[in-house]
Amino acid sequence: MDVSEPQPQPHVVILPFPAQGHIKPMLMLAQLFCNNANFYVTFVNTHHTHNLIHKLINKTNFKRLFPTLRFEAIPDGLPPQHPRSGPQVLDIFFTMGFESKAKFKDVLTGLHQQEEWSPPTCIIADGIMSFAIDVAEDLHIPVITFRTYNASCTWLYFHIQNLIQQGEIPFQGDDDMDRPIACIPGFESLLRRRDLPSICRLEDAQNPILQFYITQTSAMTRASALILNTFDELESPIISKLGSLFPKIYTIGPLHALFKSRTTHYTESDSSNGSLREQDMTCLTWLDSQPSKSVIYVSFGSVATLTRDQLLEFWYGLVNSEKPFLWVIREGLLLGDDTVVETPAELEVGTTESGCIVRWAPQEEVLTHRAVGGFLTHSGWNSTLESILAGIPMICWPQLADQQVNSRCVSELWKVGLDMKDFCDRSTVEKMVRNLMEGKREEIMKSIAGNSKMACDSVKEGGSSYCNLEKLIEDIRSMRSTTKNIAHVGNE
Ligand code: UDX
Repeated sequence: MDVSEPQPQPHVVILPFPAQGHIKPMLMLAQLFCNNANFYVTFVNTHHTHNLIHKLINKTNFKRLFPTLRFEAIPDGLPPQHPRSGPQVLDIFFTMGFESKAKFKDVLTGLHQQEEWSPPTCIIADGIMSFAIDVAEDLHIPVITFRTYNASCTWLYFHIQNLIQQGEIPFQGDDDMDRPIACIPGFESLLRRRDLPSICRLEDAQNPILQFYITQTSAMTRASALILNTFDELESPIISKLGSLFPKIYTIGPLHALFKSRTTHYTESDSSNGSLREQDMTCLTWLDSQPSKSVIYVSFGSVATLTRDQLLEFWYGLVNSEKPFLWVIREGLLLGDDTVVETPAELEVGTTESGCIVRWAPQEEVLTHRAVGGFLTHSGWNSTLESILAGIPMICWPQLADQQVNSRCVSELWKVGLDMKDFCDRSTVEKMVRNLMEGKREEIMKSIAGNSKMACDSVKEGGSSYCNLEKLIEDIRSMRSTTKNIAHVGNE
């Protein structure tokens, strides 16, 4: 190679799983690559999520701010009328097969042939999109896997097969859910059955969803490195253990904070905050009228659902706690119909007096608003990180995927919240809210303040996540010369 020859900027192709909690951190990374490293980035959505994102961004400003970021779209294999939300989002696991893979390959081959952009230097693929690893191997393009779970849960997924072999899972619904799980290194005294990922509650070890995760997780190790949206100081013992499976790990979280701290000329409206729904900003005005640290913010993320009975129990618990609350009741949160037909009069009154309900909130702004004092959350990993960064203690009501593990870490490992897993009767909700906002507040606030500071420090210049992003950028730059040659092999 002639070292004097000017090198084109690297070109990274990013492929997220098409769901809110996956797209948001991966789009933050894409924007960081463009803004901080001048990389070219092709961000590959499905047609459905492509349309959602493009409805919400200001295209002219976005192009001005991120001239080297462009979007491509591939099919998800589902019919147009499919809701692609709630529990049915899982259908995508089984439809993003043959057609999506072929189209993804077409996108990559097309990129090789475009004159103005260099061929792809590397692919960053979601940890549950292993077809991207197959394509990368076919085309001889280096691939890095990005798992949107935290390190603890990622590590745990590598032990699912072992849990089956040891007879720990599957278990039946009426088995002892508090039985300790001692066979996962690093978690010997932390986890009970009820804290395992929700797939462990499937009663058949051959269940296709359980098998999907086993296959996807094991495929991740074919990638050359792992990216996690976490920070070293929070999970260092488990990150070290993951080092036995991946030659390189880049822990670059909280990505939303790294994005804010490192993006120059950043304004909310120019970039994309990765939201797939329009955020109702009016709730910030409502928060302005509330006393400091008084409000409990309630949101169950983008996939979890409630039955009508559960919704009413939460509602009674919140009203009975006599704390002001801001509640996100998104379209599709309620299983079945989308509206509560009969709301008891006392709940209507209680909500008018001290509540605010919106369809989708600007969550990062809400969590940093001076009026918010607690977060009743489903323990999605993005929400958990956002709450830790903002120093807001949590009440956890996990439901699916990694959420059961996250809530256990929140309550027992990091001690930054309370876990009400599996129980949401009105008296439990009321008790939890009172404990978080009064009884146990002092103790929990001490832990969350320490964790919040570590999170903030990690994204500052010299901090662990800041440096790890630099390292990732450097390592991708050094892949450039290799891919320049192998790209031609893929084109033959
Ligand atoms: C789920 C998982 O549980 C998560 O851990 C996994 O990595 C992806 O799938 P989700 O239900 O979307 O994710 O939750 P979460 O990871 O918390 O992400 C939700 C995102 O939506 C957060 O970044 C949050 O800020 C945003 N959000 C949520 C809003 O912008 N407005 C809202 O009203 C609610």
